[in-house]
Amino acid sequence: MPDVPALPQPLRWSTATAAFQIEGARTEDGRGRSVWDAWVDTPGKVVDGATADPAADSYHRWADDVALLAGLGVDRYRFSISWTRVQPDGSGRVNTAGLDYYSRLVDDLLDAGVTPFPTLYHWDLPIPLHEAGGWTERDTVARFTEYTELVAARLGDRVHDWYTVNEPAMTTLQGYAVGELAPGEFLLFDALSTAHHQLLAHGHAMRVLREHGATAVGLPNNHTRVLRLHDTDADAAAAAAYDAIHNRMFADPILTGTYPDLPGIDTRIPVRDGDMEIISTPPDFYGVNFYNPTTVTAPAPDIPIPFEMVPTPGAPVTGFGEQWPIVPAALRDLLVDFATRYENLPPIVISENGASFPEPDVCSSPIDDVDRISYLDGHLRAVAEAMDAGVRIDEYTVWSLLDNFEWADGYTQRFGLTHVDFATGTRTPKSSYDWYRAVIAENRR
Ligand code: NOJ
Repeated sequence: MPDVPALPQPLRWSTATAAFQIEGARTEDGRGRSVWDAWVDTPGKVVDGATADPAADSYHRWADDVALLAGLGVDRYRFSISWTRVQPDGSGRVNTAGLDYYSRLVDDLLDAGVTPFPTLYHWDLPIPLHEAGGWTERDTVARFTEYTELVAARLGDRVHDWYTVNEPAMTTLQGYAVGELAPGEFLLFDALSTAHHQLLAHGHAMRVLREHGATAVGLPNNHTRVLRLHDTDADAAAAAAYDAIHNRMFADPILTGTYPDLPGIDTRIPVRDGDMEIISTPPDFYGVNFYNPTTVTAPAPDIPIPFEMVPTPGAPVTGFGEQWPIVPAALRDLLVDFATRYENLPPIVISENGASFPEPDVCSSPIDDVDRISYLDGHLRAVAEAMDAGVRIDEYTVWSLLDNFEWADGYTQRFGLTHVDFATGTRTPKSSYDWYRAVIAENRR
């Protein structure tokens, strides 16, 4: 086992999953359908036709997951609540069996000494809401607020730490702008309304959760460090444009109460009086999901988008290949940059960080995932450097506790500290699980 990284101050430690990626049981106990059910049931959308059922079968094997968490010694567990288990149609009727499942999970986590840290929304928008326009429609904000109220009323006596809306950037950019993820819309810049509505949903949820006694509420945003291919003014402009769309579009409204100045933004973002105050209600923490930097260059003259993404020269890569270069220093630079950029930055929670590598579907002995350990080790050292540079960082979270259903990539990208045999549900901790346990023991807060 390599030396584990030491942090300048103790952190809280966590690991994460999401409902659709681990639960399976898509038709059990009154669960309704979400845009991801429609996506996996459409031939050709997911690699190998994987359907996310049974995935890691956590709807039945949650007790195994809790035991794995207790074994790691994490402080908190980031899991998500499935909107369609709680409210099958996305409004009105409540499915008590769905709430019971999460209530039991919460009790078991607390009994095991692990603080529950649920995400209210991890991409599983109920189908009836999608049919009414989904996140392009303001009414979805009201529906989400109603759903938040239901969950908080049931769990708020025991759960005080919450994430609201996971990675609105990915939903807007990949779900609504270019159609690579559910719901698969191709609206290009007209997708910007979905950014505003998700951020507004986050703001309203913060208020509701606090009314129910929440003490730690924030949103996990996906961020990337934007690198330019050439040291030219044209590439600097391309990098600034990509930074505005991927990072600032989703961080500025929360942390400054304004949107970045992008062409056409005034007509495409349906801001009403009072919205920006709600969105910029100070969160208790700022969640950063980080995986890789993005290198861009100036586009060819006939391309209508102000940047072109290119591979990052010289960087090793994860199981996703050159789309996911490994550059730990990019995380340090991003964190330092955020602390400089945003005066009111609350403490940062690294709400996801991790990597997939090719691993077998079946294992007879624990997988020695040295590449994952090296990835996590490098990124933790980057976190330590950012802390040394004065950035306030409270918590670090590994994506993921378990191998799981990686969206359009199905089961082909394994991110887990624990191997899952998707045919049997068998869980086998990898070397990275032991490594993470050692890191936590060494740096316990
Ligand atoms: C971010 C998402 O929140 C999560 O669902 C996904 O599996 C990881 N990134 C890895 O792609």
